[in-house]
Amino acid sequence: MTRACFPGSFDPVTMGHVDVARRACAQFDEVTMLVTHNPAKTGMFTPEERMRLIADSTPGLDNLRVDSWTGLLVDYTTAHGITVLVKGLRSALDYEYELPMAQMNRRLSGVETMFLLTDPRYGYTSSTLCKEVAGFGGDLTGLVPDPVAAALRGRAGRG
Ligand code: PNS
Repeated sequence: MTRACFPGSFDPVTMGHVDVARRACAQFDEVTMLVTHNPAKTGMFTPEERMRLIADSTPGLDNLRVDSWTGLLVDYTTAHGITVLVKGLRSALDYEYELPMAQMNRRLSGVETMFLLTDPRYGYTSSTLCKEVAGFGGDLTGLVPDPVAAALRGRAGRG
Protein backbone atom coordinates (compact mmCIF):
# COMPACT_ATOMS: atom_id res chain seq x y z
CA MET A 1 0.00 0.00 0.00
CA THR A 2 1.50 3.33 -1.06
CA ARG A 3 0.62 6.20 1.23
CA ALA A 4 1.15 9.78 0.12
CA CYS A 5 0.82 13.07 1.94
CA PHE A 6 -0.21 16.41 0.41
CA PRO A 7 0.83 18.98 3.02
CA GLY A 8 0.05 22.67 3.09
CA SER A 9 -1.38 25.58 4.97
CA PHE A 10 -4.72 25.30 3.13
CA ASP A 11 -5.94 28.63 4.58
CA PRO A 12 -8.28 27.98 2.88
CA VAL A 13 -8.26 25.11 0.37
CA THR A 14 -8.69 26.23 -3.26
CA MET A 15 -9.86 24.52 -6.44
CA GLY A 16 -6.18 24.14 -7.36
CA HIS A 17 -5.56 22.16 -4.18
CA VAL A 18 -8.66 20.02 -4.74
CA ASP A 19 -7.51 19.26 -8.29
CA VAL A 20 -4.08 18.13 -7.06
CA ALA A 21 -5.71 16.02 -4.32
CA ARG A 22 -8.03 14.35 -6.82
CA ARG A 23 -5.17 13.53 -9.18
CA ALA A 24 -3.00 12.24 -6.32
CA CYS A 25 -5.84 10.01 -5.13
CA ALA A 26 -5.84 8.41 -8.61
CA GLN A 27 -2.15 7.53 -8.26
CA PHE A 28 -1.78 6.38 -4.65
CA ASP A 29 -3.66 3.96 -2.41
CA GLU A 30 -4.15 6.55 0.29
CA VAL A 31 -3.56 10.32 0.33
CA THR A 32 -3.56 12.50 3.43
CA MET A 33 -4.17 16.20 3.03
CA LEU A 34 -2.23 17.49 6.00
CA VAL A 35 -2.99 20.92 7.39
CA THR A 36 0.49 21.85 8.55
CA HIS A 37 0.08 24.57 11.10
CA ASN A 38 2.65 26.91 12.60
CA PRO A 39 1.33 27.90 16.06
CA ALA A 40 3.31 31.17 15.84
CA LYS A 41 1.22 32.27 12.85
CA THR A 42 -2.48 33.00 12.89
CA GLY A 43 -4.34 32.42 9.66
CA MET A 44 -7.85 33.35 8.64
CA PHE A 45 -9.15 29.90 9.59
CA THR A 46 -8.20 27.64 12.50
CA PRO A 47 -6.64 24.25 11.67
CA GLU A 48 -9.96 22.60 12.57
CA GLU A 49 -11.88 24.91 10.25
CA ARG A 50 -9.39 24.27 7.45
CA MET A 51 -9.78 20.50 7.91
CA ARG A 52 -13.58 20.80 7.85
CA LEU A 53 -13.46 22.91 4.68
CA ILE A 54 -11.19 20.32 3.00
CA ALA A 55 -13.51 17.46 4.00
CA ASP A 56 -16.57 19.39 2.77
CA SER A 57 -14.80 20.22 -0.51
CA THR A 58 -13.70 16.68 -1.42
CA PRO A 59 -16.80 14.48 -1.48
CA GLY A 60 -16.32 11.13 -3.20
CA LEU A 61 -12.56 10.92 -2.71
CA ASP A 62 -12.76 7.70 -0.71
CA ASN A 63 -8.99 7.25 -0.29
CA LEU A 64 -8.44 10.79 0.96
CA ARG A 65 -7.80 11.43 4.65
CA VAL A 66 -7.58 14.83 6.31
CA ASP A 67 -5.36 15.51 9.30
CA SER A 68 -3.35 18.31 10.91
CA TRP A 69 0.18 18.60 12.30
CA THR A 70 2.30 21.23 13.98
CA GLY A 71 5.78 19.66 13.98
CA LEU A 72 8.32 18.60 11.40
CA LEU A 73 6.58 17.17 8.38
CA VAL A 74 8.93 14.18 8.17
CA ASP A 75 8.08 13.17 11.75
CA TYR A 76 4.45 12.85 10.65
CA THR A 77 5.25 10.94 7.45
CA THR A 78 7.60 8.51 9.21
CA ALA A 79 5.10 7.85 12.01
CA HIS A 80 2.33 7.14 9.48
CA GLY A 81 4.26 4.99 7.00
CA ILE A 82 4.01 7.67 4.30
CA THR A 83 6.73 7.41 1.64
CA VAL A 84 5.71 10.14 -0.81
CA LEU A 85 4.95 13.84 -0.49
CA VAL A 86 2.78 15.35 -3.22
CA LYS A 87 2.92 19.03 -4.10
CA GLY A 88 1.40 21.10 -6.89
CA LEU A 89 3.68 23.24 -9.04
CA ARG A 90 2.19 26.37 -10.60
CA SER A 91 5.34 28.04 -11.84
CA ALA A 92 9.11 28.34 -11.64
CA LEU A 93 8.57 30.40 -8.47
CA ASP A 94 6.92 27.41 -6.82
CA TYR A 95 9.78 25.23 -8.00
CA GLU A 96 12.37 27.49 -6.36
CA TYR A 97 10.36 27.44 -3.13
CA GLU A 98 9.75 23.68 -3.16
CA LEU A 99 13.17 22.40 -4.25
CA PRO A 100 15.05 22.98 -0.96
CA MET A 101 12.12 21.63 1.07
CA ALA A 102 11.99 18.46 -1.04
CA GLN A 103 15.73 17.94 -0.72
CA MET A 104 15.71 18.65 3.03
CA ASN A 105 12.79 16.30 3.64
CA ARG A 106 14.52 13.54 1.67
CA ARG A 107 17.75 14.07 3.56
CA LEU A 108 15.95 13.97 6.91
CA SER A 109 13.85 10.88 6.35
CA GLY A 110 14.17 9.47 2.82
CA VAL A 111 10.67 10.62 1.89
CA GLU A 112 10.34 11.40 -1.82
CA THR A 113 8.51 14.45 -3.19
CA MET A 114 6.50 14.13 -6.38
CA PHE A 115 5.19 17.20 -8.16
CA LEU A 116 1.97 17.48 -10.11
CA LEU A 117 1.86 20.35 -12.57
CA THR A 118 -1.07 22.59 -11.73
CA ASP A 119 -3.94 22.53 -14.18
CA PRO A 120 -3.67 25.78 -16.19
CA ARG A 121 -7.18 26.70 -15.04
CA TYR A 122 -5.76 27.20 -11.54
CA GLY A 123 -2.26 28.43 -12.38
CA TYR A 124 -2.81 31.86 -10.83
CA THR A 125 -4.95 30.71 -7.89
CA SER A 126 -3.65 30.98 -4.35
CA SER A 127 -5.26 31.03 -0.91
CA THR A 128 -3.82 34.49 -0.35
CA LEU A 129 -5.28 35.98 -3.54
CA CYS A 130 -8.65 34.32 -2.95
CA LYS A 131 -8.81 35.83 0.56
CA GLU A 132 -8.00 39.24 -0.86
CA VAL A 133 -10.62 38.98 -3.61
CA ALA A 134 -13.19 37.79 -1.06
CA GLY A 135 -12.34 40.67 1.27
CA PHE A 136 -13.37 43.13 -1.42
CA GLY A 137 -16.47 41.18 -2.35
CA GLY A 138 -15.07 39.83 -5.63
CA ASP A 139 -16.39 36.80 -7.49
CA LEU A 140 -14.66 33.54 -6.51
CA THR A 141 -16.71 31.26 -8.76
CA GLY A 142 -14.53 28.40 -9.99
CA LEU A 143 -11.56 29.43 -7.84
CA VAL A 144 -12.60 27.92 -4.50
CA PRO A 145 -15.06 25.12 -3.67
CA ASP A 146 -18.57 26.25 -2.71
CA PRO A 147 -18.14 25.59 1.06
CA VAL A 148 -15.00 27.74 1.01
CA ALA A 149 -16.72 30.54 -0.91
CA ALA A 150 -19.47 30.57 1.73
CA ALA A 151 -16.93 30.60 4.58
CA LEU A 152 -14.98 33.44 2.96
CA ARG A 153 -18.14 35.47 2.40
CA GLY A 154 -18.96 34.92 6.08
CA ARG A 155 -15.55 36.17 7.18
CA ALA A 156 -15.87 39.22 4.95
CA GLY A 157 -19.21 40.01 6.57
CA ARG A 158 -20.98 39.45 3.29
CA GLY A 159 -22.53 36.02 3.99
O1 PNS B 1 0.99 25.78 1.80
P1 PNS B 1 2.40 26.12 2.20
O2 PNS B 1 2.40 27.19 3.26
O3 PNS B 1 3.26 26.46 1.01
O4 PNS B 1 3.02 24.79 2.85
C1 PNS B 1 4.33 24.78 3.37
C2 PNS B 1 4.52 23.56 4.28
C3 PNS B 1 3.46 23.58 5.36
C4 PNS B 1 4.38 22.31 3.47
C5 PNS B 1 5.93 23.65 4.92
O5 PNS B 1 6.05 24.89 5.55
C6 PNS B 1 6.16 22.54 5.91
O6 PNS B 1 6.44 21.43 5.53
N1 PNS B 1 6.05 22.84 7.23
C7 PNS B 1 6.20 21.87 8.30
C8 PNS B 1 7.48 22.12 9.12
C9 PNS B 1 8.67 21.46 8.43
O7 PNS B 1 8.74 20.26 8.28
N2 PNS B 1 9.61 22.30 7.99
C10 PNS B 1 10.78 21.86 7.28
C11 PNS B 1 10.48 21.73 5.77
S1 PNS B 1 11.90 21.19 4.87
